[in-house]
Amino acid sequence: MKFFIDTANLDQITEAHNLGVLDGVTTNPSLMAKEGITGDLNIINHYKAICSVTDGDVSAEVISTTFEEIIREGQELAELHEQIVVKVPMIKEGIKAIKYFSGKGIKTNCTLVFSAGQALLAAKAGATYVSPFVGRLDDISTDGLALIRDIRLIYDNYDFQTKILAASIRHPMHIIDAAKIGADVITGPLSSITALLKHPLTDNGLVQFLADYNNAALKDK
Ligand code: E4P
Repeated sequence: MKFFIDTANLDQITEAHNLGVLDGVTTNPSLMAKEGITGDLNIINHYKAICSVTDGDVSAEVISTTFEEIIREGQELAELHEQIVVKVPMIKEGIKAIKYFSGKGIKTNCTLVFSAGQALLAAKAGATYVSPFVGRLDDISTDGLALIRDIRLIYDNYDFQTKILAASIRHPMHIIDAAKIGADVITGPLSSITALLKHPLTDNGLVQFLADYNNAALKDK
């Protein structure tokens, strides 16, 4: 299972990379705006900076919505760096573009996926990744993880090679449940990944081990 971090914040990407468990990065226009990255040149330079921190795939989202524009923008993004994956929205023009990119060997991430039917279309078009948004479905009282389960079943039935990238991950239980279901990748904030470290029995146990070591050393003197 791969761990992607869902941010455009270079410090957080570096922290996750230094932890040794980072397999890639996903961004979107909202995440870029949150970091104050505006203007085409700054955005391009920021993608390059992200690629210099991680060795894995970096999803860069197009802001175009017509086939011709998605192709033009996506090709420019793909040419920036070999790690760039062109992130394309789940719309009719997007599906056509994913099919086109797939024929050209350009990696794609089909984003804003909220149903099994959409995920089936993305796989048929040859998307490298499909991004079902778990957290946003949960937000509207719909079981986001049930969608991951359905997509896993459908892709396995037909041996689709599209990777299930469980997106909009909000907390560590999303990651654990996505792993149980067999999602290929999760993408979430750094906090959802580092929360996996935590268990009170680990903390208490370590305090006790260190105290016992120090007490024994004192007795030795
Ligand atoms: C997917 O790649 C998106 O960037 C992301 O996971 C959306 O997450 P959010 O619902 O927390 O904004």
